[in-house]
Amino acid sequence: MTGRTSLAIVLAAGEGTRMLSARPKVLHAIAGRSLLAHVLAAIAEAGVNAIAVVIGPGQEAVAAEAERALPGAECFVQGERRGTAHAALAAKAAIERRPDDLLIVYGDTPLIRPATIARLRAPLAAGAAVAVLAFRPADPAGYGRLLFADGALAAIREEADADAAERAIGLCNGGVMALAGAHALAILRRIGSHNRKGEFYLTDAVEIARGMGLDAAAVEVEEDDVRGINTKSELAAAEAVAQQRLRQSALDAGVTLVAPETVFLSADTKFGKDVVVEPYVVFGEKVTVEEGAVIRSFSHVTGAHIGKRASVGPFARLRPGTRLGEGARIGNFVEVKEAVIGAGAKANHLSYLGDASVGANANVGAGTITCNFDGSDKHRTTIGAEAFIGSNSALVAPIEIGEGAYIGSGSVITQNVPAGALALGRGRQVIKEGWVERLRALKSLGRKKAHSHE
Ligand code: UD1
Ligand code: CA
Repeated sequence: MTGRTSLAIVLAAGEGTRMLSARPKVLHAIAGRSLLAHVLAAIAEAGVNAIAVVIGPGQEAVAAEAERALPGAECFVQGERRGTAHAALAAKAAIERRPDDLLIVYGDTPLIRPATIARLRAPLAAGAAVAVLAFRPADPAGYGRLLFADGALAAIREEADADAAERAIGLCNGGVMALAGAHALAILRRIGSHNRKGEFYLTDAVEIARGMGLDAAAVEVEEDDVRGINTKSELAAAEAVAQQRLRQSALDAGVTLVAPETVFLSADTKFGKDVVVEPYVVFGEKVTVEEGAVIRSFSHVTGAHIGKRASVGPFARLRPGTRLGEGARIGNFVEVKEAVIGAGAKANHLSYLGDASVGANANVGAGTITCNFDGSDKHRTTIGAEAFIGSNSALVAPIEIGEGAYIGSGSVITQNVPAGALALGRGRQVIKEGWVERLRALKSLGRKKAHSHE
């Protein structure tokens, strides 16, 4: 809405007792991102001028997450959990700056989309004092019901206070409300706590505005946009919707997902063109996959940059700090962490590459391990371009293997290897001709002696 100033308040206080968790509710995650971060991202994208977050006392972790997700969001503390209207008033200082529009969004509705938030502001521009998002959930239990009189939104009734007829209403409160800045404080201040729970309900804003002779409006949206999360099963249902959306946008961007329903993405997963993802792959946060790369089945990828036409898996694990160069190959049962793998380099089987850099076209043999941890500190391994690391080698860091050097398989390498050299760090093979024959002869002699003593 051009020309109108806006403030969004995100209500994020409260422990979320029904989650049966030590973690504050809004810090639970879907698609690799906290509920709070999803809400903040949607609001920021909807283009508001200021954002306030209301947290509970001692919820520094929630404040820190708000700051991480959206630097500049202002936090206010609600001293006691006394209801959603009471929570909104914790940000009174921000409301007093008199934005044209005030949006109040619950921190536990992470699927809200920027376009949905924008739609809610339209009735305000048209003169309404209050606008709410409405939806028809498959199961309305737990949601506030919208009451209409003479075709106009008249009130919202919380389930605990509703009679049987009101409970039968299918149209519910989505939990996002917009208030005209000019009336917001007057309306919020009039909200009382005369209900079963003795809480200050934000939802009473509708009835109060109407009583003041002001208009209220409802904007109906899809259930998925406003699913509220109070329990672990609602969290799982929201995860399913988020995954469905992310898979669809990957497919729309030209990614090949062989079995989309088996691939799990994060909100920030980025794909180039012609990427192929085989069934059963999990992407954690901060992953970028460039054009033409292939991620094979059963791989788990977090915090990794996968270069053009690189190949990963099956059964690979890429941990944070992994950077695969163009055409690099990371094969089955290979784990990579904090490591840069050069263009065309290969580690095809059963390896651990941690705190390492592997030069272009180097070949890391099966079973190679970078021994990066000495029990207290981490150290780096550097493998030069075109180097060849024989199978089952242990590279004890800090260590440097020069360009084009060869490491004999089964070596334990503790000293730097110059470019072009061969290093062998293993017991020398010994051959004892006829040894087995001699052993048998000794054994049968021993048995004869034992018999003669019986
Ligand atoms: C609320 C609405 C209900 C709506 C539903 C949509 C009220 C009274 N009810 O119910 O009409 O259908 O959301 O999901 O608003 N919070 C605070 N401080 C408080 C109380 C709540 O910050 O004192 C925060 C919570 O952290 C949560 C949000 O406000 O993120 C909503 O509170 P919650 O208790 O989940 O409300 P519901 O019962 O789900
Ligand atoms: Ca809720």
